Amino acid sequence: MGIVGNRRSGNAASRQVDAFEIVAAQVVDVLATAGVVLDERNLVLRASPGAIQFGLVQNRHLIHGSLLQLVEEARTISGAAERELQIETGLQREQLWVHAKAAKFGDRYVMLLVDDRTEAKRLEVTRRDFVANVSHELKTPIGAISLLTEAIAGAQDDPENIKKFTASLQKESQRLGNLVQELMQLSRVQGAKLSDTAVELDLASVIADAVDRNQVLADKRNVKLVTSAKPGATLQGDYEMLTTAVRNLVENAIAYSDPGSQVGIGLKALDGIAEISVTDSGIGISEDEQERIFERFYRADPSRSRETGGTGLGLSIVKHAASNHKGDVRLFSKEGVGSTFTLRLPIDSKETN
Ligand SMILES: Nc1ncnc2c1ncn2[C@@H]1O[C@H](COP(=O)(O)OP(=O)(O)OP(=O)(O)O)[C@@H](O)[C@H]1O
Ligand SMILES: [Mg+2]
Repeated sequence: MGIVGNRRSGNAASRQVDAFEIVAAQVVDVLATAGVVLDERNLVLRASPGAIQFGLVQNRHLIHGSLLQLVEEARTISGAAERELQIETGLQREQLWVHAKAAKFGDRYVMLLVDDRTEAKRLEVTRRDFVANVSHELKTPIGAISLLTEAIAGAQDDPENIKKFTASLQKESQRLGNLVQELMQLSRVQGAKLSDTAVELDLASVIADAVDRNQVLADKRNVKLVTSAKPGATLQGDYEMLTTAVRNLVENAIAYSDPGSQVGIGLKALDGIAEISVTDSGIGISEDEQERIFERFYRADPSRSRETGGTGLGLSIVKHAASNHKGDVRLFSKEGVGSTFTLRLPIDSKETN
């Protein structure tokens, strides 16, 4: 119960409970959001469970000065006073973004409603960062392409330079193409509704396809791909999405390894879970960076990644693809020794090994 204060003392000085207060109390009790009713001295008469949970009220007082100010403002106007506010709650001083609205209720009371908008705000910030990142990533190859075309136009009598600039032009336009393709894949995995695209699939064919799509890159970098995956681990999933995920892992293993090394791709299935592992003996990832590399656009070593043409989207696509299939990605890595990424997926319950 959200009752604050003592209403039933037989004391003659006890407060008069009027009809307004009863209605206000009933309204506040059924509110999903945080609601508080205050009397003329700004003492809290009633607080909804949400308001208590938010930590808005202590000893019949509103804790936050900004909310109290809004209540005062509401007393002076005829409509509702409302504002977007940032408040801190709890011992951890957690930052919340709220929409607060206060309005007079009868002559003496004010009702305050507080809506948590933190999640929406976070999404907005993420979206803004994403757009800024995309624009930045697009600007680099587009700028380079524009400079290179100028350079080619100015090098008419210099076939050697034309050849050099053309090769760079090709590399930059390929980078642009990759970026656009990855953005499309990311938006696809983010907005995916698996029920529309899921089919019964065998993970061994997903792996075979993903490895096949990396064979050219592996040959070019002189990296040997060794697969051991027996058929039989099946699940309902999006074939293209899972193939892209495994392909991204294999592509990284090749890109962040030295020429002449080997990349292993394995499949194990036990207790209803399949584990697709991709192991390299490449540069490895420091402990600090192991968490961050799954973020969009994050690259542990931007200069190396520039060389490989990476944009930092590959692993975020893998992470989304895994969670769309109710699975996850695990990483074991040691700098200078190598990395193993393991994509874990629930499968139809029948065991293979
Ligand atoms: N197998 C690996 N070994 C070492 N570092 C890795 C490995 N896989 C990923 N990384 C690090 O994690 C970062 C993020 O990887 P991710 O695949 O998301 O992006 P990317 O490879 O840079 O670009 P792209 O979007 O083209 O894949 C890489 O830049 C790299 O620093
Ligand atoms: Mg990558």
